[in-house]
Amino acid sequence: MKPEVLVLAPTRPRAWAQLEEAYTLHRYDEAEDKAGFLAEHGPKCRAIVTNGHETLTRQMVEAMPNLGIVACSSAGYEAIDVDALTDNSVKLTNTSPALCDDVADTAVMLMLAARRGLIDAHAYTSSGDWGRKGMFPLQHAIKGARLGIVGMGTIGQAIAARCAVMGMDIAYFGRRKKPGIDYPYVADLTALAAQSDVLVLAIAGGDATRGLVDAAALDALGPDGLLVNIARGTVVDEAAMIDALKSGRLGRAALDVYLNEPEPDPALTCLPNVTLYPHHASGTVETRDAMAQMVVDNLAEFYANRPLLSAVN
Ligand code: DGY
Repeated sequence: MKPEVLVLAPTRPRAWAQLEEAYTLHRYDEAEDKAGFLAEHGPKCRAIVTNGHETLTRQMVEAMPNLGIVACSSAGYEAIDVDALTDNSVKLTNTSPALCDDVADTAVMLMLAARRGLIDAHAYTSSGDWGRKGMFPLQHAIKGARLGIVGMGTIGQAIAARCAVMGMDIAYFGRRKKPGIDYPYVADLTALAAQSDVLVLAIAGGDATRGLVDAAALDALGPDGLLVNIARGTVVDEAAMIDALKSGRLGRAALDVYLNEPEPDPALTCLPNVTLYPHHASGTVETRDAMAQMVVDNLAEFYANRPLLSAVN
C-alpha cells in the first residue's frame, strides 16, 4: 500500500506525477469541509505537501498524530506554525537551495534597473523623448557602490557572490555574525544603512523581523539611497517607507514584495521613485520545477529514513 500524504497545495506537473505514482494523495486544498477532511485523512498521513502561503496551524498539526514531515515548496514559511511542528517532532523542509539563484538574480535585476533608471529610460526611448529632449539624465554606477545585505543566508550569500563580481563594496547585517563569511558584519541595521548606497533585504519574514527596517533605517539610507526588497513586505515599515519616498528622504525603492499582495498600496505603486516586480523572484519554469522536485526528493529521503535535503527545524 502506498504511503498517504496530505496536500495543502499541489505542485508542478512533473513533480506531481511522481507524487501520484509514489503516494496516495489527499487533496485538502480541494476539500469543502476542511475539518471533516482532516479528521478523516489526517491521522493516516505521515507527510504534508504545501507551500509557504497555505496556513498550517497547531490545531491542524495536532490532528495528525503520525505526521513526520512538512515538505514546503518555497523559501518562506510564515504561514506554518514551526513551533507546533518542532513541539511534535515534525520536520519542516523548504526549497531555498533550489531558488536562491533566481532570487539573487532578481535582486541584481532590480538594483541595476533602479540605479540605471531602466523603466524611465525605456519610456524615454519609446516615447520619442530622446529625439525631442536630448540625452537621458546621467544615472548611478554599480561598480564601487556600497552594498548592505540584510540577512546573509543562502539567498543573501548568492546576492553577495554576484555583487562582488560587479565590484560592489559589501557588508552585512543579521542576527549574528556568520561563521565563514568574510564580508564585514555590522551589528546595527541603521548603522549598515547609513554606510550603504544600496540596502538589499534578504532576511526571513515573520514576527521576528516585522518592521525591522524602520523610519530611522530608511532615513539613514538617505536621499541617494536605494532599498531593494526581495524578502517579505512585512520586513519594512511600509508606511514609513512611503513617507520617506514621498518626501525624498529615501531616494528609491525597488521591490518584489509588499504588505498587501497582490494589491499593493496605491500610495506606494504610484510613486515615481519606485521600481516594482510582482513577487516573482523565483518565478521561472526552471526554478519552480526544481522547487517542486525538491519537495519530491525530501519526501523520498524521509520515507527512506535518510537525512533530509533542506531541513529547517
Ligand atoms: C518563497 O519561496 O518564499 C517565495 O517568496 C515565494 O513565496
